[in-house]
Amino acid sequence: MRFGGASGAWVNAREIELVRALLPEFQRALDLGCGTGRLTRALVPHGRVVGIDTSRAMLTQAQRENVLALAQGDAFALPFADASFDAVVALRVAFHFADLEALLSQVARVIAPRGVFVFDTYLWSPRAWLPLAPARWGGGVFVHPPARVETLAARMGWQVARREFCFLFSPYIYRRLPLAIVRALARIETRVPARLRARVFWKMARVM
Ligand SMILES: C[S@@+](CC[C@H](N)C(=O)[O-])C[C@H]1O[C@@H](n2cnc3c(N)ncnc32)[C@H](O)[C@@H]1O
Repeated sequence: MRFGGASGAWVNAREIELVRALLPEFQRALDLGCGTGRLTRALVPHGRVVGIDTSRAMLTQAQRENVLALAQGDAFALPFADASFDAVVALRVAFHFADLEALLSQVARVIAPRGVFVFDTYLWSPRAWLPLAPARWGGGVFVHPPARVETLAARMGWQVARREFCFLFSPYIYRRLPLAIVRALARIETRVPARLRARVFWKMARVM
């Protein structure tokens, strides 16, 4: 539903491209909060990938082509041994949680030394401000100021390897616009200071 139509497909392709640009070569990756598996599927040609999600309905949808390794489980109690993965990706997941510390701590446990964690946060979003927005637009969203994310990451033994500031506003709105407008927004985005964009894609490396 989120990625239907030409503009939805554009948003999907852009997000997958952002993740691929930040993710190094990997042997075994975890797609945390994999949802319907759009990213899991895109990563499969590049290495072994496991998708995990709490939602049975999401996993059923993800498994419709029967090609993915999926598990039902909680990001805060991951059913994997320590250092099981050299890459972990959580796309459109972290911003649903007010406190990133618990998430970073769980990922730190299952990721190998020097492993890479790619995830995204919001700099601003109307979904974080409007009281009725979470119910209408698919769950609560929290804003995470980049400076605070960096301080937390450093304290927890993560090194910020790269950050990409992207989208002028929530992609939820992009997908409702004609593709020509979406493409024009992408051009405008390159002229807008990074700090005024809406979302940040993070690449963090485990250093402890
Ligand atoms: C907005 S969707 C993103 C899905 C997918 N990553 C994508 O980008 O298409 C967020 C997903 O996180 C899952 N989720 C929420 N809380 C979770 C938790 N504690 N552990 C694992 N998955 C969780 C939801 O079920 C949902 O599928």
